[in-house]
Amino acid sequence: MNDEFKNAFIKTKAAGSIASGALDEVCNIIKPGISTNEIDNLCYQFINDHGAYSAPLYYRGYPKSCCTSPNHTVCHGIPSDKILRDGDIVNVDVTAFKDGWHGDTSRMFFVGEVSVKAMKLVKSTYDAMMKAIKILKDGIYLGDIGSTIQDHVENDGFSVVRDFCGHGIGKSFHLNPNILHYGKAGTGMKVTEGMIFTIEPMINLGKFETKTLNDGWTAVTKDKTLSAQFEHTIGIKKDGYEIFTLSDKGLNFPPYKI
Ligand code: MF3
Ligand code: CO
Ligand code: CO
Repeated sequence: MNDEFKNAFIKTKAAGSIASGALDEVCNIIKPGISTNEIDNLCYQFINDHGAYSAPLYYRGYPKSCCTSPNHTVCHGIPSDKILRDGDIVNVDVTAFKDGWHGDTSRMFFVGEVSVKAMKLVKSTYDAMMKAIKILKDGIYLGDIGSTIQDHVENDGFSVVRDFCGHGIGKSFHLNPNILHYGKAGTGMKVTEGMIFTIEPMINLGKFETKTLNDGWTAVTKDKTLSAQFEHTIGIKKDGYEIFTLSDKGLNFPPYKI
């Protein structure tokens, strides 16, 4: 790999570790009765304490340091004094900006005891993301990623959100190409060594349509069914990939044993 790619990988790993470290801390505080603002405060503090900036804060007018998306919220939920209750599932999405580079990651959290159908949705979403990650290497097509995810979750009876996608990431938060989480194998752009992008499938229990609330950010499922999402930032190597946002503590998937 050339020096430019090597440098990009090292810098993205540094930013990604801070973002995933913030999510590791969230594992310690998630419980019935906490507000999404408390999650936001923790993320803000953790990222700052590690010499980084939160990329969402003031991004296109976004007011907070992370996104908190419970239950039928698909993505971009804005932290508030809303209280999380027993049985909720919630996605927390964190992006750290460190030394000029970005690392973007999200996980689902269980609040207390959640339903079997919620657990199944969360597991299918995570498994689909990891299945797509495992095929990554120089020479595959973007359509291979989308079709892997779509086949997996549709086989489980769930649907892939079309209105949001993964993205290239690096010195800017959102770069080309768009990484669709549905599609046909062998189609689209070729994936090549040195590329850095996110895979962040949003998977719905019901239909895939979404709508955005009046706050201009919060996306929800149109049919009010549950939605789940995980996200990793990944770099492409000749014969594989590197995940920049893995948990140092192995807290990649709930329930988080801490
Ligand atoms: N982290 C989100 C993503 O995965 C983007 C959030 S933008 C914000 O791309 F402004 F809503 F924070
Ligand atoms: Co992202
Ligand atoms: Co994100």
